[in-house]
Amino acid sequence: EIIIERDAEGVARQVADRFESVIRHGGRFGVTLGLATGSSPVATYQELIRRHREEGLSFGHARAFLLDEYVGIPRSHEQSYHRFIREHFTSHVDIADELVISPDGQAADPVGEAARYDRGIADAGGVDLQILGIGGNGHIGFNEPTSALTSRTRVKTLTEQTISDNARFFDSPEDVPVHVITQGLGTIMEARRIVLAATGESKASAIAAMIEGPFGAFCPATILQMHPAVTVVVDEDAAGEL
Ligand code: GLP
Repeated sequence: EIIIERDAEGVARQVADRFESVIRHGGRFGVTLGLATGSSPVATYQELIRRHREEGLSFGHARAFLLDEYVGIPRSHEQSYHRFIREHFTSHVDIADELVISPDGQAADPVGEAARYDRGIADAGGVDLQILGIGGNGHIGFNEPTSALTSRTRVKTLTEQTISDNARFFDSPEDVPVHVITQGLGTIMEARRIVLAATGESKASAIAAMIEGPFGAFCPATILQMHPAVTVVVDEDAAGEL
């Protein structure tokens, strides 16, 4: 399903509607959300915070798993995804802090930590709704081009493009961590529903490659062509090359 909205606010409302539906109709035993960082989902999180404050939307029965985390920076670092998701979303709604779960980027054994994290998602019953952004090179999570299409949560090395894309959030490109722990493409594909949000011209070629391009590891997001329940919500700029 592809939805083209006029602007970023429209995209945020569409994505928030899907979260709200899962939250309101989730089972008695709770709902598991898959959350993403990056700038793309921030407007959606702001809309969900508004609905929590003004319309009583409650996350009291939700837990959340993050997609990814940098290796080697502490959770207190302002660019750690552990901190980012709290500052931009979860600390402003009624989700229990200990139920907002992310890979430990400072684990002594990052490879073992990645495998443990992957099992934790399955043990929790899997993700009901996963929100995704997309990298300019077609990555989802931190699954860079050539990622194995059935990969599980693991340690990855960032490409130079992603390091330079993300350098704006750090003092200098040298400060961007080189390694990350990310859910694999196979892990992400196990979410029952997926919604991918993208806005702006800089995402237009990645969106076109994901939707219309040939399936393959050079554009990891093309794996979503194989998922039975994906909604892509884009603004007119991000839809510009469709
Ligand atoms: C980041 C994240 C992804 C995100 C992507 C795009 O590096 N690991 O989860 O979707 O790159 O980021 P943005 O939304 O800021 O453009």
